[in-house]
Amino acid sequence: MSVHIGASKGDIAETILLPGDPLRAKWIAETFFENPICFNEIRGMLGYTGTYQGKKVSTMGTGMGIPSMSIYANELIKEFGVKNLIRVGSAGSYQKDIKIRDVVLAMAASSTSGVNELRFGGADYAPTADFGLFMKAVEAAKAMQIPIKAGNVLSSDEFYEDNIESYKKWSKFGVLCVEMEAAGLYTVAAKHNVNALAILTISDSLVTGERTTSKERETTFKNMIKIGLELA
Ligand code: ADE
Repeated sequence: MSVHIGASKGDIAETILLPGDPLRAKWIAETFFENPICFNEIRGMLGYTGTYQGKKVSTMGTGMGIPSMSIYANELIKEFGVKNLIRVGSAGSYQKDIKIRDVVLAMAASSTSGVNELRFGGADYAPTADFGLFMKAVEAAKAMQIPIKAGNVLSSDEFYEDNIESYKKWSKFGVLCVEMEAAGLYTVAAKHNVNALAILTISDSLVTGERTTSKERETTFKNMIKIGLELA
């Protein structure tokens, strides 16, 4: 067991799907896994291992934001030997042509977090997705006829910005959408030489003010999970 994960070695698969919400992890396990077993309940951050089409796979919540994601990613990699970490989460659109319900693959993650600025003494580090996982996700989406968009996303430290117009500066530079964890995940994965990818579903738009309903979120979430599970 590690500091925040109450599992034993071998309880967690090499590939794990990481939603922010632990109840989403429970839903993923109960909806998609054969024989899911819960391996973590510490802090209510539910984690499960089962099989999908005969392959061992896990899912666990990460909580919100880069600090929470970084704690779980570190322990999953260092204490449990996880090799493929796939974030499955929601994001807010920064572009007119990125619509609610769209699936976005985060090729790179810009950030308002100070973590990497501190780590690299003020220089910029560019957290990027693993190319192998990225290509597999593109191919899986194509085979399942799920349309995807791909590009730079923003991992923000703030959900409630003081200035709601501030998204426009990112939008101008081609950032597709905002979420809160990918940059942390990509950096921790790179540090430990393992693979990471964030697959995102657009739940709201900063451009139009639209939001998906919770029912819609469930349906659209399924497409993202199906892509993620093909990476196991
Ligand atoms: N996740 C989903 N929508 C978001 C938003 N608008 N800002 C940050 N994270 C999000």
